[in-house]
Amino acid sequence: MAMALRSLQSLLLVSLSITLLALAQEKDQFIYHGFHEANLRTDGIGQIHPNGLLQLTNTSKQQIGHAFYPFPLKLNTSSSGVPQPLLFSTTFVFAMVPELPNVSGHGIVFTISPSMEFTGAMASQYMGLFNPTTNGNSLNHVFAIELDTIRSPEFGDIDSNHVGVDVNGLTSIESATATFFSAKEGKNKSLGLISGDPMQVWIDYDGVEKKINVTLAPMGTSKPSHPLLSTSIDISSIILDSMYVGFSSSTGAVASSHYILGWSFSTSGQAQKLDLSRLPPLPPRRKSKGNQGLTIVLSLTILAVVLVTITGALYMARMKKYAEIREDWELEYGPHRFSYKELYKAAKGFKDKELLGAGGFGKVYRGVLRSSNTRVAVKRVSHDSKQGMKEFVAEIASMGRLRHRNLVELLGYCRRRGELLLVYDYMPNGSLDKLLFSNETPNLSWFQRYRILRDVASSLLYLHEECEQVVLHRDVKASNVLLDADLNGRLGDFGLARLYDHGANPHTTHVVGTIGYLAPELTRTGKATTSTDVYAFGAFMLEVACGRRPIESKEQPEKMILVDWVIECWKRGAILETRDPRLGDYYVVEEMGLVLKLGLLCSHPMSAARPSMRQVMQYLDGDAILPEISPDTGSIGDIAASNEGFDDLFMSYSSLSGKASICLLSSADSTLAGGR
Ligand SMILES: *[C@@H]1O[C@H](CO)[C@@H](O)[C@H](O)[C@H]1NC(C)=O
Ligand SMILES: *[C@@H]1O[C@H](CO)[C@@H](O)[C@H](O)[C@H]1NC(C)=O
Ligand SMILES: *[C@@H]1O[C@H](CO)[C@@H](O)[C@H](O)[C@H]1NC(C)=O
Ligand SMILES: *[C@@H]1O[C@H](CO)[C@@H](O)[C@H](O)[C@H]1NC(C)=O
Ligand SMILES: *[C@@H]1O[C@H](CO)[C@@H](O)[C@H](O)[C@H]1NC(C)=O
Repeated sequence: MAMALRSLQSLLLVSLSITLLALAQEKDQFIYHGFHEANLRTDGIGQIHPNGLLQLTNTSKQQIGHAFYPFPLKLNTSSSGVPQPLLFSTTFVFAMVPELPNVSGHGIVFTISPSMEFTGAMASQYMGLFNPTTNGNSLNHVFAIELDTIRSPEFGDIDSNHVGVDVNGLTSIESATATFFSAKEGKNKSLGLISGDPMQVWIDYDGVEKKINVTLAPMGTSKPSHPLLSTSIDISSIILDSMYVGFSSSTGAVASSHYILGWSFSTSGQAQKLDLSRLPPLPPRRKSKGNQGLTIVLSLTILAVVLVTITGALYMARMKKYAEIREDWELEYGPHRFSYKELYKAAKGFKDKELLGAGGFGKVYRGVLRSSNTRVAVKRVSHDSKQGMKEFVAEIASMGRLRHRNLVELLGYCRRRGELLLVYDYMPNGSLDKLLFSNETPNLSWFQRYRILRDVASSLLYLHEECEQVVLHRDVKASNVLLDADLNGRLGDFGLARLYDHGANPHTTHVVGTIGYLAPELTRTGKATTSTDVYAFGAFMLEVACGRRPIESKEQPEKMILVDWVIECWKRGAILETRDPRLGDYYVVEEMGLVLKLGLLCSHPMSAARPSMRQVMQYLDGDAILPEISPDTGSIGDIAASNEGFDDLFMSYSSLSGKASICLLSSADSTLAGGR
């Protein structure tokens, strides 16, 4: 056991140092596929869509939109202090969708600036950066690459479709008509910036050669070997010690929607490659009318004939690829049933690139349903047993009818041999544990955490008491709480634990759940109740307040079991010391005290002593006062005693899997429950 623990510790140490390494690197580079987690600073009409798309402007006239990486960067030297040949390197994907077919304004400027404020800046040809007075002033210290779609004679623009290198003003020191070098054809090909199609830009500045390269290509084409612009310029007098990077954009008398889909930036070597498959989709475009329509119809007809022929040939092969299992009894669940083909296409063939995560029940993939253009998460659960499937699917279908704003909505399912696919609402901000346990700043605020606790409590109350039948969650924990676009908490994976019941061998009792969240009676009897859910919710409350998992082996022994440690500190009159140190002093003392004590009460070893979810909700809402409990009276003190069993549990299973998500067999059960 000691050996298992030691090897686990070294494993943790290794993963910790990898994390630290990753953090150190993060300071001088970032990469965003969509911007929902990016925390960019936007102003003007700039905004980030729920799907992560950054929209700098829409078709409102004479408007400005800015979006900047919110932290200043040192472009002069890398974080190690050693000057880099590549002072900075960046790549981004943009799209300009004009209001009218061939006029548009005004463009997007990639900007490096000492400030994110552009006081007095004007729209249209001033691009939201300057005005007639400030344009060209050497005190601006602004370095920029413009993607300009209107010819402004006063700045000497060459045409209405060009890329330019700008210093302190909009008269480009060098510019070129938008083209890209196609290696396949060995020549330059023209590009229409306002085609509405996404395009990729690469900007690399070599601080030794003192040269900037700007390269352009349609999205999906790899970086052309020849840059569009390769201009000698010494930017050391322009760049100040700390600079902000981002985008400025403007519209004029005519307007375009200007979008950024993804962005990678680095001050330490080549910017990381964007994974184009992970970029958010652009909003669907209106179809053009008129003559063009006829041409399109004609070519579509020809295309259709060709396609039908090919499809016929491929049909047999495909039959097998998309095979699924459908039985008569499933007809009654009609709308909840997706075809495998639809899901396969939505998740782009379930390639690893689309993987959102892997949990106790299976892998989760991102996807976009073609039919409705909605983003979904598809969970693939392997399931060998045919037995109990009907019952389980009935349950899944009834869960599809559960509706609560704090539950991740189950949109439907699909069944194949040996596996089940579950389709859920896509949650752009991922799971709570990723935010909670990351060292990134800013972390979740207390206000956000308290709201998430209430959100999850209200969804559990709904499952336990407010829907038609009692639904047990059986795996409440931070990694099963997902965050929507507004950072509301949504409980996911409800009821999934039942799958293991239906398929289970009747001679063993499977306990599904996660160590640290398992009520003591559950490990003994294997019987889940609303009260065992409350127990897990208690552990979850402590997790959110203290910013750590219920059991952490890298902590000192006295802190290893979170519940014990909170009780210890409470006995010393210092319960607030257990709060997440990342919160600093920004929290509400009364709420913190309430969450910690209520968390302990919910984690009471005697199920009868735990409150119901309705009571939990009342305490959190301030509609009821938490009964006076003390760490010294037998009741709470017992918790610590009962948790001694955890050590055994933990050590026996840590060697099996670091994740400690377990299925206990009844034979092992008695020995595990033995420790009191
Ligand atoms: C453009 O965006 C702004 C701010 O989001 C909004 O007020 C305005 O109505 C939008 N204009 C159009 C044409 O959608
Ligand atoms: C498109 O551009 C051409 C040439 O610049 C012009 O003659 C034509 O009128 C424009 N069409 C529209 C719809 O603006
Ligand atoms: C810029 O382009 C030139 C010409 O293709 C190339 O030789 C040089 O290495 C490039 N520099 C950077 C920093 O990419
Ligand atoms: C292609 O464009 C680049 C950059 O504008 C230019 O230097 C080069 O001469 C062009 N090549 C050809 C074959 O036109
Ligand atoms: C970096 O900054 C120092 C002074 O802070 C300056 O002397 C040097 O030229 C700068 N280097 C570059 C490449 O900009």
